[in-house]
Amino acid sequence: MTDRPTSPPGEDRKDAHLRICLEEAIERPGRGNGFDRYQFEADALPELDRAEIDLSTTVFGKRLAAPLMIGAMTGGTARAGELNRILARAAEATGIAMALGSQRKMLEFPEITRTFQVRDVAPNILLMGNVGAVQLNYGVTADDVRGLASRVGADLFAFHLNALQEAIQPEGDTNFKGLIGRLERVIPEVGVPVVLKEVGAGFSRKTLRKLRHLPFAGLEVAGVGGTSWSKIETYRTDSWIQQMTGARLGDFGVPTAESLGYAVEELPGKTLIASGGIRTGTEVAKAIALGAHLVASALPFLKAASEGGVDAVILTIRQFIDELRTICFVTGSPNLAALRGTLRQEPRP
Ligand SMILES: Cc1cc2nc3c(=O)[nH]c(=O)nc-3n(C[C@H](O)[C@H](O)[C@H](O)COP(=O)(O)O)c2cc1C
Repeated sequence: MTDRPTSPPGEDRKDAHLRICLEEAIERPGRGNGFDRYQFEADALPELDRAEIDLSTTVFGKRLAAPLMIGAMTGGTARAGELNRILARAAEATGIAMALGSQRKMLEFPEITRTFQVRDVAPNILLMGNVGAVQLNYGVTADDVRGLASRVGADLFAFHLNALQEAIQPEGDTNFKGLIGRLERVIPEVGVPVVLKEVGAGFSRKTLRKLRHLPFAGLEVAGVGGTSWSKIETYRTDSWIQQMTGARLGDFGVPTAESLGYAVEELPGKTLIASGGIRTGTEVAKAIALGAHLVASALPFLKAASEGGVDAVILTIRQFIDELRTICFVTGSPNLAALRGTLRQEPRP
C-alpha cells in the first residue's frame, strides 16, 4: 500500500489536477523527450544581424510572432478561470498561440463557460478549444462540440486522445470503441479546423496510419518526456491497483522527437504541433528543424502563472523566444525555414 495523499473529498477534478501538477513530481525524469539525440551544427560566421532574424510564422491562418503555443490546460473552476486569463493576456502581449483545457464541463454546467472565455483580454491570439475524443462515445454530439468552439471564439478545436490517463482515473471513460468512425463524422461539423492531440504519451506510427484518412487539419504530438498523466492520476485514485499501474506506466508511450518524426513522414500536408516536455528554446528550435510548424509547452507556463502571474508568464515566453533567436543566430538561420537541415542526429549509444 502507498501512503501518498489522494484528493480531499469534494475537490474538483480540475483543481486537483492543478494542485498535483504544481506540488508533485509528475514529470518524467527517467525518459527524455528524445531531442537530446539531435545537435545543431554551429556556425561561427553566421553573416546575419541577430536583430533581423525573423521568427514569425503563419499557422492555421493567423500570424504569430514566434512558433509557440501555451498548451491545453485549464478552465472550469474559479481558479482555472483566473489562470486562463493570465495565460491569455501573456499570449496576447507576446503574439503567441494558446490552447484551453477540456471544455467538457461546459456542457453540464453552462455557467462555467466564462472560465474559458478569454477573447476580451486576448482578441487577436490563435486560440484552440478542447474536449476528449472519447466523450463522443459518452453522449457528446457534433452540435455540442460546435457550440464549445463557438462559445469561446476558438480558431481551431482539439480532440484529445488520452487512453492511458482514462485507464488510471478512478472515474475514467475507457470505452474507446468505434471512435475513428465517430471522429470521421463529427470533425467536418465542428465549424473550425480540428487538431487531434495526445496528452503526453505521443502517437506511434501505428496510430497515425489508423487516423491519417480523417478530415482533421493538424496533429499535436504531446509525446513522452514531460508531464505524465499516468503519474498525475496516481495522486487522485484511492485504488492501490490503479496507483501501481499508473506509476509503472509513468513513461509509457512515444518520446516527443520520435513521434514528431513519425508524424512528418505519415501526415504530409497536416499542420504539426510538437509538444511533450518542451522546456527550452533550443528544444523549440529542434522541433521546428525536424518539421513542426508550431511548438507547445504546458507545465512551465502553469508554474509561471501560478507563481508570478502575467509578468512571469511573459518573462518565460520571452526567454523561450530569446533562446530560439540565438539558436537561429549561431546556426546561421535567418528564419525558421532555414533551421531545417541544421540538425545532426548523434548515433545511438
Ligand atoms: C495542469 C494541466 C492540465 C492539462 N489539461 C489538459 C486538458 O484539459 N486537455 C488536454 O488536451 N491536455 C491537457 N493537458 C496536457 C497538455 O496539453 C500537454 O499535452 C502535456 O501536458 C504535455 O506537455 P508538457 O510536458 O509541456 O506539460 C494538461 C496539462 C497540464 C500540465
